Amino acid sequence: MEIPDALRVALSELAEEYPIAALARAASRLSAAYRVDQSSQANQADRGEQTDESSPSAAVGAPLDAAAYALTRLPATFAALVAALDAARLRRPDWRPTTLLDAGAGPGVAAWAARAVWPSLTRATLLERDQRMLALGQRLMRQAPAGCVVSWRQADLITEREPLSGAPFDLCIASYALNELPLAARRPLTLRLWRACGGALALVAPGTPAGFAAIREARVWLIAAGAQIIAPCPHADACPMPTGDWCHFAQRLARSRLHRRLKGGEAPFEDEKYSYVIASREPGEPFAARVIRHPAVHPGRIALDLCAPDGLMRAEITRSDAAWRAARQARWGSALASLPDNARER
Ligand SMILES: C[S@@+](CC[C@H](N)C(=O)[O-])C[C@H]1O[C@@H](n2cnc3c(N)ncnc32)[C@H](O)[C@@H]1O
Repeated sequence: MEIPDALRVALSELAEEYPIAALARAASRLSAAYRVDQSSQANQADRGEQTDESSPSAAVGAPLDAAAYALTRLPATFAALVAALDAARLRRPDWRPTTLLDAGAGPGVAAWAARAVWPSLTRATLLERDQRMLALGQRLMRQAPAGCVVSWRQADLITEREPLSGAPFDLCIASYALNELPLAARRPLTLRLWRACGGALALVAPGTPAGFAAIREARVWLIAAGAQIIAPCPHADACPMPTGDWCHFAQRLARSRLHRRLKGGEAPFEDEKYSYVIASREPGEPFAARVIRHPAVHPGRIALDLCAPDGLMRAEITRSDAAWRAARQARWGSALASLPDNARER
């Protein structure tokens, strides 16, 4: 996957404003903050505690940091968002959202991604607490193709309690944001976003145990509030993922030369891991199972790990099986229209 040309141009113009070495140092500071954050969450998870994430984006202290964040993270979050939103689009192929709310918008990536999936969006409201992120997002957005009116609002999602002005929004998104909020703030915000949402609410988080835990918890609150879960889950029953495992997906994206210079390493691509849930006011088109790991492809045989209404399943499919063609096309994250005959509980 590639980011849109207009966004690429906006990012490279941004990069030209700072010495590359300063950007690389800021990027490595942010990565270090992120690693510390991940390891403290992993320790909490190992102790069976709920993870109250500190915020890696809180390490953004200056315009240089915000620029480094956007240059290093935005392509990957764009890719994850497009993949997650596209899963919702496939479940509701006739839905054409026109209004968007993005909560914790950062540099505004969700609006770029949502428009890539639904060009029908004509009005977007982006809420962000950090003035540096907001200013950066506004600046990048100047390069966006015309057709969508974007309003930015500096807002604190925790302290604000009133209904969100402009609601209902067809599509609401909180991308890599819910997991950064203190535990006590997540439920009220999730329900506030759900109340503001007229069509679908997408929650996306890093594909880590802690990111998944935040998503799984929100899924429970949303189901209790009457939401239909249209992706990634093929059901609205209790999540069957066992302790020590976590539901996540990966989206591969091309790395630019600039990204390689800022983050080091020569690989021409990266795999962004993400967890997500899409809650909808309307049911989605039914599907039988979601592929939850890379398919294991052997000569004449493909093994699929699946999440299905009856729980986690494994199917071993050979050339003579009716499901062979679907298995060959399946990717990590694909929805299967029917369950392979020999799928068995894992
Ligand atoms: C990791 S960034 C994600 C940004 C963007 N949504 C994305 O997907 O790239 C999290 C964002 O949430 C914002 N944020 C954190 N706590 C917030 C709060 N209480 N109110 C509003 N924004 C908040 C941060 O300033 C930051 O921009």
